[in-house]
Amino acid sequence: MDILDERVMKLARVAVSGTKDELRKYILELSKEEEEKGNKEFAKSLNMLTGNTSIVSLGSKEKSFLVVRNEFNFVKHSNQEFWHNDKRFTYIYDFLKYKKNLDLIKVFNCFIYGRPGTGKTTFVEELSNKLNKNVLNISAASLVSSKLGETQKNIKKLQIDIENNYHDSIFLIDEIDSIIGNRDLEINDEYKRMIGSFNIFLDSLPKRTILFGISNKINFIDKATLRRFNVKIGIDEIDEEQFKKSLKNEIEKVGSTFDDVLVEKFLRLLCKNLSYSNIQEFVSNSLIFNKSLNKVFLDFYEQLYGVQKYDDLKNLGFTIKEISNLKDVSFSTVQRALKGNL
Ligand SMILES: Nc1ncnc2c1ncn2[C@@H]1O[C@H](COP(=O)(O)OP(=O)(O)O)[C@@H](O)[C@H]1O
Ligand SMILES: [Mg+2]
Repeated sequence: MDILDERVMKLARVAVSGTKDELRKYILELSKEEEEKGNKEFAKSLNMLTGNTSIVSLGSKEKSFLVVRNEFNFVKHSNQEFWHNDKRFTYIYDFLKYKKNLDLIKVFNCFIYGRPGTGKTTFVEELSNKLNKNVLNISAASLVSSKLGETQKNIKKLQIDIENNYHDSIFLIDEIDSIIGNRDLEINDEYKRMIGSFNIFLDSLPKRTILFGISNKINFIDKATLRRFNVKIGIDEIDEEQFKKSLKNEIEKVGSTFDDVLVEKFLRLLCKNLSYSNIQEFVSNSLIFNKSLNKVFLDFYEQLYGVQKYDDLKNLGFTIKEISNLKDVSFSTVQRALKGNL
């Protein structure tokens, strides 16, 4: 059997008896081989079969699979422009658009941290969209290898790639804590070396590199790593108005009703516990369990704080009419129950 036959045989075997993941993995392997042979187009086509992110071919000299082009879903955001009124967004946009003082600070590396679902990734998406720049995801999983010395080699490769091929792109390491900084991990030598090489990588970023690191767990990140980011942005809070607007938009899209007053009351009670990801969750729950949005909010509240009796709800500021709506009982039932408690 020649090499081609062997590859066909293997492909057939994986296709027939392997899992989807195994098939995907093997196609990626083939794509990588083709990439290395210089068959870029074929490599790309193979790669496209495995999903909607395409691995960027990295230059002609150095080839690596460390960087993945990020195909953000711009359609979803194109007319929402979540972050465009945020001051930090505007400053960074201006700075990167004109790059006036980029030489003075050498590189722009920005660390974004905060609770999950507060729009951190979206911040970078929208920035790159507005700047009309590519975002290249630095794939954490491929960067870090458990093989001795492999990580340093990868980091070196990546550095050369940035320098030679992608100096005008935005680089993103999302969920950065997943590669460097999990304190739960045993601090062994390999791990220390990894943080060490990562820090050296940050130190040796080519001039004018634009890099974003994102993490939900800033406390897990190595202090020396953090120090190397020259801009840090905390995105911990959601904007109540923004949340309401988006929720209203989404809930009306699926034909459900939106009760301004009740939603506002819940928002005020729950703001610290909510993230933008809850919007999709609430809409889905309302549809799947055929519940009103008010009831979805109440359930969410009760999951956090336990079942609320009529007088609990009254103390939270809900009127009798609202309580009867939320608990799906008649006005007079609530009225009677509350009187009984007085
Ligand atoms: N300002 C915003 N208003 C409404 N929805 C938002 C906003 N920012 C992000 N989203 C949506 O919330 C979800 C989570 O956002 P994401 O950027 O992934 O959060 P993070 O990266 O902080 O975990 C996404 O579906 C995104 O479209
Ligand atoms: Mg994110």
